[in-house]
Amino acid sequence: MEKKKICVIGLGYIGLPTAALLANRGYDVHGVDIVQNIVDTINRGEIHIKEPELDTFVKIAVNSGKLKADLKPTKADVFIIAVPTPFHNDFVPNIDYVISATKSIAPYVQEGNVVILESTSPVGTTEKVEEVLASEGVDTSKLFIAHCPERVLPGRIMRELVENDRIVGGVTPESTKVVAEFYREFVEGEVLETDAKTAEMTKLTENSFRDVNIAFANELSMLCDKFGINVWELIKLANRHPRVNILNPGAGVGGHCIAVDPWFIVHAGGETAKLIKTAREVNNYKTEWAIEKIKNAALKFENKNGRKAKIACMGLAFKPDIDDLRESPALYIAKRLRADGFEVIAVEPNIESYKEFEIVEYKEALKQADIVTFLVAHKEFKNLDIKTDLDFCGVLES
Ligand SMILES: NC(=O)c1ccc[n+]([C@@H]2O[C@H](COP(=O)([O-])OP(=O)(O)OC[C@H]3O[C@@H](n4cnc5c(N)ncnc54)[C@H](O)[C@@H]3O)[C@@H](O)[C@H]2O)c1
Repeated sequence: MEKKKICVIGLGYIGLPTAALLANRGYDVHGVDIVQNIVDTINRGEIHIKEPELDTFVKIAVNSGKLKADLKPTKADVFIIAVPTPFHNDFVPNIDYVISATKSIAPYVQEGNVVILESTSPVGTTEKVEEVLASEGVDTSKLFIAHCPERVLPGRIMRELVENDRIVGGVTPESTKVVAEFYREFVEGEVLETDAKTAEMTKLTENSFRDVNIAFANELSMLCDKFGINVWELIKLANRHPRVNILNPGAGVGGHCIAVDPWFIVHAGGETAKLIKTAREVNNYKTEWAIEKIKNAALKFENKNGRKAKIACMGLAFKPDIDDLRESPALYIAKRLRADGFEVIAVEPNIESYKEFEIVEYKEALKQADIVTFLVAHKEFKNLDIKTDLDFCGVLES
């Protein structure tokens, strides 16, 4: 059987690994991005993002002629949309990229084609894709349109793309079947079938589940501080109950998924989304609370010593052992401290440079600092012999 031709729209953390994987499985893949530099980099067989094994996959795919990048879509059997879905400043979901990606494929879509939305999306977006195609003059009754949310973990994307279970939700039961069959060609995990709205809500639910549970841990950490209790010991003890599993508190919640996706539910759910909204607020509040704690310690130092404290901010990424700064509470804390007139020494072992801070090597920072605050539990910080009341990620407890 001849392999299908695939057009992937958006060549970022999701689209590029997907395109490279499919090309290595023998599909003819036409990757599309609106950024010229990304297109050029990929066509040289190189990559513009950091992800283990991706460089090899892309190099092989491009050298074999199976993967080509371009600024424009082309005719294909399967279109996969993997563009960003952020929110506007007021937490209103922004599906503009999905809409423009959909419009861009409209002239190329033909009868019998498959159109898949992989971007994490507010409920109803897949139907919106169908509406947009119809409004562009496409006969959508002859297409198979579905949502298939991506749930890979950065750092393990190439493996998880194949191994994870996938949810496929079509705008019609027939679309669900056809699209699920496509994923079964290369996914080793189970491909589960549902409708489009349920598939959209499943992805949002997964991330909201994490957010709500982290909010519980974060609230506990602030309560324990008030009561003079070590929250890490408390959680360890409580988790010895066979049916209790409390997550770790931190300096807030970051990243482009967990800190973003619950807002898609809150926006549409209004008053009904009480717990999910409160969890978002608690997690954001934890970051403000941490900033206040650090500022108080710095002012105390200043009063005692007659000079400003140098504050080592240990970690800027949104979680341990990665270089991703998107929506990072740690980065936000460092920026806020500096904007409010405090002297910050920025430490992030996973990046070499950053436009807004000079990145200082962690041992050097510890030598220079008057106050040390641990914001991310990077492996480099474990087992350091340091005393501080400002360990917000519990790295000294591990
Ligand atoms: N990165 C992850 O770990 C992850 C995990 C699960 C789900 N997701 C979801 O997948 C989606 C994509 O995320 P990502 O991390 O790959 O984003 P990204 O920012 O890394 O990549 C998106 C790419 O799309 C391009 N783009 C934007 N509009 C375009 C258009 N109209 N046509 C062609 N290209 C266009 C951008 O230039 C960019 O290169 C988002 O909805 C995200 O929430 C991401």
